[in-house]
Amino acid sequence: MRILIVGTGGMANSHAQAYKKIPGVELVGGVDVRAEQLATFAEKHGIPHTFASVEEAIAWGQFDAVSNVTPDRFHCSTTLPLLAAGKHVLCEKPLATHAADALKMVEAAAKAGVVNAVNLTYRGIAAMQKAAELVRAGAIGEVRFFEASYLQSWLHQPAWGEWSTSPEWLWRLSTAHGSKGALGDIGVHIVDFATYVAGLGVTDVSCRFAVYDKAPPENKIGEYTLDTNDSVTMQLSLANGALGTISQTRVASGHHNDLRLALYGTKGGLEVFSQKPDTLRVCLGADALKKAEWQTVECPAVTTNYARFIAAVRGEAGPRGPDFARGAEVQTVLDAAEESAKQRGLTVEIDD
Ligand SMILES: NC(=O)c1ccc[n+]([C@@H]2O[C@H](COP(=O)([O-])OP(=O)(O)OC[C@H]3O[C@@H](n4cnc5c(N)ncnc54)[C@H](O)[C@@H]3O)[C@@H](O)[C@H]2O)c1
Repeated sequence: MRILIVGTGGMANSHAQAYKKIPGVELVGGVDVRAEQLATFAEKHGIPHTFASVEEAIAWGQFDAVSNVTPDRFHCSTTLPLLAAGKHVLCEKPLATHAADALKMVEAAAKAGVVNAVNLTYRGIAAMQKAAELVRAGAIGEVRFFEASYLQSWLHQPAWGEWSTSPEWLWRLSTAHGSKGALGDIGVHIVDFATYVAGLGVTDVSCRFAVYDKAPPENKIGEYTLDTNDSVTMQLSLANGALGTISQTRVASGHHNDLRLALYGTKGGLEVFSQKPDTLRVCLGADALKKAEWQTVECPAVTTNYARFIAAVRGEAGPRGPDFARGAEVQTVLDAAEESAKQRGLTVEIDD
């Protein structure tokens, strides 16, 4: 299995490391528009062939499958020619920056008849998969209510580097650079996380954004206007009438990268914390519910999206990861949330 990696920045290292662990998978090529970055990455991971564009790599053609790890706004334009060339594609999230492009990618993948996957990484959390399994088996009865959050704090601390001087963080703060802010970057993960476990589609969403002053007076650093949302709160209705909240932020001081889901049904409750990926908190059964008694359940390890992608390309049996259709479904929810946030404007008058 010969893999081409397109976009060789920060996240591409995780892809390269994951593929190296899968027997029979070989990293044969890399593509990046930054020659120096590409050369460093190729040397680090022992990649023999490098290209300045997807088109050059396609002309060479000696690869079977692709990881697309370019910034969000390039996912669609770089994936379409790869699909047309008959290559299997694992694309980073969000699948595209809006649903229309995501749906174009779904159609093109179906036409090409290739394996397609979107890297919603947190599907690899054992507790999340166990929670989904319990919900499917009816353990919590009818889902009624949920609370989910994705908390980061990289705008308040430098654990992952100084955002104000790093292009890889600055593009995430600028709509002109194709970012949809916290909504697009981490909202995509937590919307998938919550609705996948609930096993229900979203029928309605309302949303609010906050954008903080980060570089006054113009909120601009070099070519980057810092205009994307930093914090997002959403309310969602699911197909069975269940209601829940999903929030995401880059300013949750004290949390580097924490996802949490609490899901409540007529017969029980489940709580997943990404900091404890191998254990699930459950309150199940009439007696436990009456006493509000929670237990911790150990969860068996699950395979990564990378391993699932390779298994699918090889035609092997086993669980599949999220595909482009799922990526487009989540993107539709994010687009609706963005629309809702734009329509704010109600002023509440409070009498002294
Ligand atoms: N699944 C996850 O948990 C997760 C985590 C981090 C990032 N990501 C996603 O991965 C993607 C990349 O993020 P990153 O942090 O690596 O960004 P990055 O900016 O560090 O790297 C992106 C690389 O793509 C290159 N590039 C830009 N346009 C290109 C093009 N047309 N063709 C080839 N290369 C091109 C850039 O030069 C850069 O080297 C984003 O979509 C991001 O949302 C996902």
